[in-house]
Amino acid sequence: MNKITLKIPATSANCGPGFDCLGVALNLYNEVTYEITDNDKLELEIEGEGAGYMQPGSYNLAFSSFFRVWNKVANGRHIGLKLKQVNRIPMSRGLGSSSSAIVGGVLAASILGEANLTKEELLRYANSLEGHPDNVAPAIYGNFTISFFESLGPKCFVLQPAKPIKFIACVPELKLSTELARKAIPFKINHKDAVVNASRTALLVAALTSGKYEYLPTAMQDKLHQPYRAHLIPGLREAFYGARNKGAYSAIISGAGSTIMAYASPDQDVEAIGAAMQNALKLKGVESQYYIYDMDTQGARIMW
Ligand code: HSE
Repeated sequence: MNKITLKIPATSANCGPGFDCLGVALNLYNEVTYEITDNDKLELEIEGEGAGYMQPGSYNLAFSSFFRVWNKVANGRHIGLKLKQVNRIPMSRGLGSSSSAIVGGVLAASILGEANLTKEELLRYANSLEGHPDNVAPAIYGNFTISFFESLGPKCFVLQPAKPIKFIACVPELKLSTELARKAIPFKINHKDAVVNASRTALLVAALTSGKYEYLPTAMQDKLHQPYRAHLIPGLREAFYGARNKGAYSAIISGAGSTIMAYASPDQDVEAIGAAMQNALKLKGVESQYYIYDMDTQGARIMW
């Protein structure tokens, strides 16, 4: 086999209190075809996000992630590589576009290099490129994931919520680099704040598995990262309020932002929740679009 097309879900990390450990996969997908060629070149065609400025090469995660695995599994076989991407996941908005590129690369190399790596092995490679596992884990496994480290590296527990949840993503025009958003968080945090997050994260997992979603408004509170990042997203607090006011369980910063993600019951008026967040940002001069998603349950997969 010298060609494969994959589909990789968008993800939303942290889920409020679960900084760098919780994440959820969404039914929004990038598609990518990896083709091994014998012309020794790296080639890239893009439709959608990144078209016109993303270039092939070692700085491009879709290539570097592929070769990270390929160089381990293919016995030094020298190849050319042609990629065709259909990119639907917005970039630099906290929806896992980098993770999608990384997971696509490691999975394609595993299949084309006939290594058939396990999901746990894919997670180890992907985490080594991303630096934290909370986006790559749901991109690989689907569903909600709880990532953690053991001596051999990152692992994850896959969690299926007891009842459906609608995810309303308010995506600002404003791009936010993960590096900048991580620098906004203090190196040391207050012990009491750590206790708040430990209790909220435990409660969130219990609420999701038991279906007692009445606990979600409390369970999704956070004191580790959102208070320090709020100034990077004008209108954030007002958008949180607007989403709650229209019936969402809660709204949080998706990953490192800038997307604001509301969680709601399918019975709620999800359009009104999206519009409330959009209006809150607009009042602060930030344009945005909102989208309604469901959870993806399969993770990255082969299309053909
Ligand atoms: N947990 C990460 C963060 C997600 O909040 O910085 C970003 O990829």
